[in-house]
Amino acid sequence: MNNFTYYVPTKVYFGKGQISHLVELKESGSKVLLVYGGGSIKKLGIYNTVMALLRKIGLNIYELPGIEPNPRIESVRKGVQLCKENKIDMVLAVGGGSVIDAAKVIAGGAVYGGDPWSLVIHPQYILKALPVYTVLTLSATGSEMNGNAVISDLKAHEKWGTYSPFFKPKMSICDPEYTYSVSAKQTASGTADIMSHTFENYFTTVPGGFLQEKFCESVLMTCIKYGPAALEDPKDYEARAALMWASSNAINGLLNAGTGVAWCVHPMEHELSAFYDITHGEGLAILTPHWMRFALNDDTVVKFANYGRNVWGIFGGDDYEVANAAIDRTAEFFTKELHIPGTLREVGIEDDKYFREMAAKAAAGSKGSFVPLTAEDVEGIYRAAL
Ligand code: NZQ
Ligand code: ZN
Repeated sequence: MNNFTYYVPTKVYFGKGQISHLVELKESGSKVLLVYGGGSIKKLGIYNTVMALLRKIGLNIYELPGIEPNPRIESVRKGVQLCKENKIDMVLAVGGGSVIDAAKVIAGGAVYGGDPWSLVIHPQYILKALPVYTVLTLSATGSEMNGNAVISDLKAHEKWGTYSPFFKPKMSICDPEYTYSVSAKQTASGTADIMSHTFENYFTTVPGGFLQEKFCESVLMTCIKYGPAALEDPKDYEARAALMWASSNAINGLLNAGTGVAWCVHPMEHELSAFYDITHGEGLAILTPHWMRFALNDDTVVKFANYGRNVWGIFGGDDYEVANAAIDRTAEFFTKELHIPGTLREVGIEDDKYFREMAAKAAAGSKGSFVPLTAEDVEGIYRAAL
C-alpha cells in the first residue's frame, strides 16, 4: 500500500429532515448564490423549503437556475459574474452532480482573476474558493463529498474533470427521500456511475489494499442489491439510502486510499459526453464490459476471477471461466436489470466519425491505469461498443 492523505472536511447530514441544518450557512456570511438545475427542485418543493430556511436566517439570496446535465462553462461564467458583481460569500448547490460541479467551479472562479475555464484545465490555478454547500437530489457522482468538478465546453467538444481540496463541500445535506422522484433512467445511470467509480478503484495494480478491495466489493454488492430495488419501488427508503451513501463513499478517497491508479473508463466516457452530450452513467455502463474484456489477460485474470467469486458469487470453473462469466454478468446486470442501453447506437451515436480523435484524448488521460491503453486500444473499445 502506498502512503496517502485522507481528508474529507465535509459535514454530512444524512437522512430524513436533515435540511433543517441549512441554517448553519449563517457561519459563512450574509450573501448566498443558490445554484440549481432545470426545475426539478421547484416541482419537488425542495426549492420552497430551502428558500424558507435561508430567509429565516436572514441571508440575501441570489439565484442561478438552469444548470444543464453535463454542465457548461457558459453557465459557470454566469455564476462567477453574479458572485463578483454581488460580492457573494458562499455558494449553495441544490441538485445532482452537474449542479454541484458547476457550483464548485463558480466558487473557485469567484475568487480568481481570469476565465474559469482555466480552473477546469489547470487545477493548479485553484488556490482558494468560496465555501460550497450542497443539498443532494441524485445519487451518482459523489460530488457532495469530494473535490472534483466536471465541466464541458461542448462547442469545442471538451469535457474535463478538475480537482481542488478547496472544492470539497463544507456541508452536504443527503436526504434519500429527495431522490424518490429521480427517473428510472437517472436512477439506473446513477447506479452505473457509482459502480464505475468503484471499478476504477478496484482494478488496481498496487498490491496490499485488502481492506480497500473489500470496501469496493461491498459498494458493488450494495449497488447490485439496491439499484434494481430502487427501480422496482422508487420510494423504497432503504434502497435510496443505500445508494446515496454508496455514491458518496465510492469516490471520496476511501476506496482507493493508498491503492489508486489512473482511471480509464471515465476518460473514455467523458469523450462520448463531450462529443455527443450523452448521459454519463449510460456511457459508462456501455463501455465497461468492453473495457473488461480488453483488460482480461494472464496478468489480470486472478483479479477478475476474485471479482466474479466475491461480488457475483460465481463458483466452479477455472479463473478464466469465472472471470468471463463475471464480465458477462456485469453486462447483463446493466442491460437486463438496470435497463440501460447496451450499445452506443442506442444512445444516438450512429457512426465512428470522431472515434480516432476521442480515443487519442482518452488514451492520454488514462496513462497509468490498470492495464495500459493505446489510442488504438481505446478506438477498438469504442468500435466494440458501437
Ligand atoms: O436539472 P434538474 O431539474 O435538476 O434535473 C436533473 C437532470 O435533468 C434530474 N434530477 C436531479 N435530481 C432529481 C432529478 N429529477 C427528479 N428528481 C430529482 N430528485 O436528473 C438529471 C441529471 O442530473 P445530473 O446532475 O446531470 O446527474 P448526475 O448527478 O449523474 O451528474 C452527472 C454529471 O456529473 C459528472 C458527470 O460527468 C456529469 O457531468 N461527474 C462528476 C463527478 C464528480 N464531481 O466527482 C464524477 C463523475 O464521474 C462524473 O463525471
Ligand atoms: Zn462517474
